[in-house]
Amino acid sequence: MSFFPRPAMATEPASPPRQFYAGRDLARAQTIGDLRAMAMRRLPRFSAEYLEGGAEEEITMRRNRAAFDAHVFKPRVIRDVSQRDLSKTVLGRKRALPFAIGPTGFNGLLWDQGDHVLARAAAKAGIPFSQSTTSNRSVEAFGDIPNLAHWFQLYLFGDDTIFPQIIAAADRAQCEALIVTVDSPVLGNREWDRRNYRLGLDLSWSAKFNMLMHPGWMARILKNGFPPFPNLEPFIPQQDRNLFGVARWCAKHHRSAISWQNIATIRKLWPRKLIIKGVQHEDDLRMSIDAGADGVVLSNHGGRQLDRAVAPVELIAPARAVAGPDFTILVDSGFRRGTEIVQALALGADAVLLGRATLYGLAAGGEAGVSRAIEILAAEIDRTIGMLGLTSIEELDHRVFA
Ligand SMILES: Cc1cc2nc3c(=O)[nH]c(=O)nc-3n(C[C@H](O)[C@H](O)[C@H](O)COP(=O)(O)O)c2cc1C
Repeated sequence: MSFFPRPAMATEPASPPRQFYAGRDLARAQTIGDLRAMAMRRLPRFSAEYLEGGAEEEITMRRNRAAFDAHVFKPRVIRDVSQRDLSKTVLGRKRALPFAIGPTGFNGLLWDQGDHVLARAAAKAGIPFSQSTTSNRSVEAFGDIPNLAHWFQLYLFGDDTIFPQIIAAADRAQCEALIVTVDSPVLGNREWDRRNYRLGLDLSWSAKFNMLMHPGWMARILKNGFPPFPNLEPFIPQQDRNLFGVARWCAKHHRSAISWQNIATIRKLWPRKLIIKGVQHEDDLRMSIDAGADGVVLSNHGGRQLDRAVAPVELIAPARAVAGPDFTILVDSGFRRGTEIVQALALGADAVLLGRATLYGLAAGGEAGVSRAIEILAAEIDRTIGMLGLTSIEELDHRVFA
């Protein structure tokens, strides 16, 4: 499997060969695809594979991308679109843009202090940042970022004594929303990722050698050792509080049994917005609504869990029909373009969560890279809205489609 994006297909046999920009100048990145190429060049193989890979044949990942082709636009013309408003109300607050940074673990492997870097870029852009349970920074260590909309993602590990303590920490940190991820009762089968390890989660010799060939990454990431996992460390024995020890602990304490009773408990413990992430079936959507959730994320975890799963973009319109107009529907998995975000909103989503798109920016160039990813997507949305003949994101609905 090649990490490096192949040159995009030319439209005609005689067209010139094409390739993504993979240099170092963020300003020259035209698309999220360019940031991806830059990231793949900078990262050692094991870290690039963790970021990039999906489960098994990666059919879900491909479907996530292909599903966008099911809808095409039918634009309106001869209208004044000189002023365009990209802001969107999500979970009761006006956001500058109709997307947020979704929760991803181990961000410290992509850039030094990756979680804080993502959060800073999100706050500057006026969009929410979601922090993962398996992030490399304490949930309480974001207070120095002005205007941060801080969402916290919860994985349930171990027995019923652990998650209430994590929720209490997120509450103390005044996180605006709690996102409970429920699509991982069994860990996704990421074979490409595992090939970088020997048994027991030790990096293989070839992965170690490959790491040595990325001295820039090593100098930046490993200057203080592998990144820590402060939100889980209180529950992990002292001797295992390191990258691979934590990964082993997570695997050992992974929970294959989550009940709606657990969700009811979480609802009681959590005083602010509650979102269930990883809903794909309409019955689970109904049960989320009945459980008192404020919203769901339609998600297949970016193709990293069940292979051959439906693409969330295919679920938006039926989910909206079930949930009615007021329930919050977020969606993720496969979003790399502003046009795709516009599509999701027109189908009935409130906003899109970004996984890899902003992580490519992070790995390509830290905070400036994340900001560049956000800027690229915002410009694409702005252009799309204008060409559709609209002046505001809030005007989007199914009538934009052919
Ligand atoms: C590197 C990586 C780490 C992730 N870690 C988490 C996590 O800790 N918690 C979680 O709920 N989802 C996690 N996800 C899933 C994302 O939140 C999101 O659902 C997915 O990335 C969306 O697909 P996309 O990457 O194609 O945008 C992770 C995804 C990636 C790529």
